[in-house]
Amino acid sequence: MIKKGIILAGGLGTRMSPITKSINKQLLPIYDKPLIYYPISILMLAGIKQILIIVNKGSIPQFKKILQDGRNFGIKISYAEQNQPKGLPDAFKIGKKFIANDNVALILGDNFFYGQSLTEKLEKASKLKKGAIVFVYPVKNPNRFGVAEIKKNKIVTLKEKPKKTKSNLAVTGLYLFDNSVIQKTLKLKFSKRKELEIIDLLNIYKKNKLLKFEHLGRGAAWLDAGTIDDFNQTSMFVSSIEKRQGLKIACLEEIALIKKWINRKNIKDAISFYGNCEYSKYLKNLF
Ligand code: DAU
Repeated sequence: MIKKGIILAGGLGTRMSPITKSINKQLLPIYDKPLIYYPISILMLAGIKQILIIVNKGSIPQFKKILQDGRNFGIKISYAEQNQPKGLPDAFKIGKKFIANDNVALILGDNFFYGQSLTEKLEKASKLKKGAIVFVYPVKNPNRFGVAEIKKNKIVTLKEKPKKTKSNLAVTGLYLFDNSVIQKTLKLKFSKRKELEIIDLLNIYKKNKLLKFEHLGRGAAWLDAGTIDDFNQTSMFVSSIEKRQGLKIACLEEIALIKKWINRKNIKDAISFYGNCEYSKYLKNLF
């Protein structure tokens, strides 16, 4: 079982400036809670309780103010800084000590996942022992993402933002790796955009026949809240579902309670921490 997860929540957020000039993108609201709650919820649903959040320089206090050490969610959150956005695999250099001898999940701080079969798929994938697993999802504009071409149930090519592609399958920002990811990252060279590329890392696994994939399928939702429009669309999506069902997406205390990682007292503490708000009202109704 994968026990450790890294959330990459750094970056300069330039595509969302001026909003992101003074606040980290991942702390901005997706409808009724900060964006960072959503990737945390995905790791929790996969059964991961040890989480490292990587943020940009100087932002740790802002994140700690809301997430603390994760105790309220029955998990353990630690933090690290990334001085410069050197690319996604940089997470494995920064997180080397945190990962130690374990396998690890990586999720991007601005990726949103939702869907009926998601938890099942995550639980299954997190049993990974050797190799790496990516999650692919059909999109209309694949050239904005890493793209996987799949033939006979195998990934045949993996390219970062190709101008032309025959495939509409984006590689989403959730990846599971065995412990060799630390060594493999050391082999990577900086790309033309001066970053270490996740696709290059995945291609090493592919070359060694150690790369598997899971289809998220059209019944699921995957959104990348990287631009203002995508951010607002994600927010509207959450608002529609929550209003319709009366159930919250990514209520971390609810997930922890269902998993029996926290108890009634923790929920009461959370209510006094958040104060009088809609989120607290929802927590009150959990028991
Ligand atoms: O969203 C999925 C896509 O994410 C994948 O399909 C691509 O293969 C992958 O390269 C990545 O593409 P992006 O160009 O969208 O990544 P971006 O640079 O926007 O970074 C994604 C998030 O990770 C963003 O919230 C900022 C954070 N980040 C990024 C980099 C490069 C960091 O915290 N540190 C970094 O060094």
